[in-house]
Amino acid sequence: MDRFKIEGGRPLQGAVQISGAKNAALPALAATLLTSEPVHLQNIPRVRDIITMAKLLAHMRCNVTSPDIPPSEFTIQAETISHAEAPYELVKTMRASVLVLGPLVARTGYARVSLPGGCAIGARPIDIHIQALEKLGAKISVEHGYVEARAKRLRGAEFRFPKITVTGTENVLTAAVLAEGETLLENCALEPEVTDLAELLIKMGARIEGLGTSTLRVRGVQRLHGATHEIIPDRIETGTFLIAGAITGGDLHLQNCAPEHLRAVIEKLKSCGVEIRCEANSLRVKAAKKLVAADVDTEEYPGFATDMQAQFMALATQAQGVSRIRETIFENRFLHAVEMLRMGANIAIDGNLAVVTGPSKLSGAPVTASDLRASAGLVLAGLVADNTTWIDRVYHIDRGYERIEEKLRSLGARITRVGTGDRDE
Ligand code: EPZ
Repeated sequence: MDRFKIEGGRPLQGAVQISGAKNAALPALAATLLTSEPVHLQNIPRVRDIITMAKLLAHMRCNVTSPDIPPSEFTIQAETISHAEAPYELVKTMRASVLVLGPLVARTGYARVSLPGGCAIGARPIDIHIQALEKLGAKISVEHGYVEARAKRLRGAEFRFPKITVTGTENVLTAAVLAEGETLLENCALEPEVTDLAELLIKMGARIEGLGTSTLRVRGVQRLHGATHEIIPDRIETGTFLIAGAITGGDLHLQNCAPEHLRAVIEKLKSCGVEIRCEANSLRVKAAKKLVAADVDTEEYPGFATDMQAQFMALATQAQGVSRIRETIFENRFLHAVEMLRMGANIAIDGNLAVVTGPSKLSGAPVTASDLRASAGLVLAGLVADNTTWIDRVYHIDRGYERIEEKLRSLGARITRVGTGDRDE
């Protein structure tokens, strides 16, 4: 298992390229199951979750090809699907595997997908995905840890999501596009990744109205065809680098990003005193003259993303005053706080509220990453801590950040990856 060794205290300077969005690429890859023709996807981030999804598609006998290794482009052709199944071995390593449920049942009339268990940040059930697919006429049973869905052909229906769910909206949308008749989906997630998926589906021949709104109207078609699509930039990687610039007192130029997808994060950082300049597809971040505390409630898009909460907490430890951070999306997403406490942060947790009093002088310590974004928060804390921070279990960060240590090093950070077999440097 690899670890990161970070020697903090260096302002980051320079330009960094933002990768494609993992959470847009995953549903796009699943959507390739909807057609027998090739779908070409570009700007795919080179991260572990993408490899897992590619393995899952290959398991179903899809033809997965890529011109480069590791791949940043994929052509996928699901000419025939002989195993309409997502096995436990793959789903347990990545719960987004559940995104194949909708496309599989819509295209083949059958899907067998392992039920994802809980994960470090919460229980994360998929009951709403199931309810919506049942509304579209799928017969669903849950047995032996697997969801089995059957339908000769799905039928259009009206469904109001009782709670906003990102992958739920994506799963149901990718089912409805091949259903017979019209589907009206209300209270849909507004995340840019949902809109990016809808844009790919439209290129494949789907008829969807209401993109970017909470009501999606889908007129089902008999079949979809191949398409070429470029995945949007990763807004969470962008936000993480914004905070890396701000927290280290640096000056960074983030290229190939989509500032319009980060309005809430940018506004919040500005309210902390961080200087940010937006251009069409780039951002410039400069250190605050004085970093001041701010309160944050995580919310669905366009609110402040839960996937930026751990990184913001790292920043709050360096800000003057009291920041109250309320996590409203997941029930257990403060595991990084306990590790930050070990580095000298002043954080009090009360249920879903973290009260951070700053600034604290962080000191390097061995810490353990519990999930993807928690790892990013710990890396940011390590970049400002004195002495050496060791972060264990960085496989979490490899799931969603492309070569983060190389990108940070190119900006002047002292961060190295140390394998268990390697000698410490
Ligand atoms: C997506 O997860 C993202 N994953 C997550 O990113 C992100 O944190 C989350 O949305 C919220 O923005 C992908 O896009 C692959 P939800 P998802 O369904 O879709 C409850 C990362 O770090 N719920 O929107 O699984 C659920 O428990 C990851 O990249 C139900 O109760 O999240 C949660 O409290 C982590 N029943 C809330 O809804 C359901 O059937 C929102 O979850 C579905 C969800």
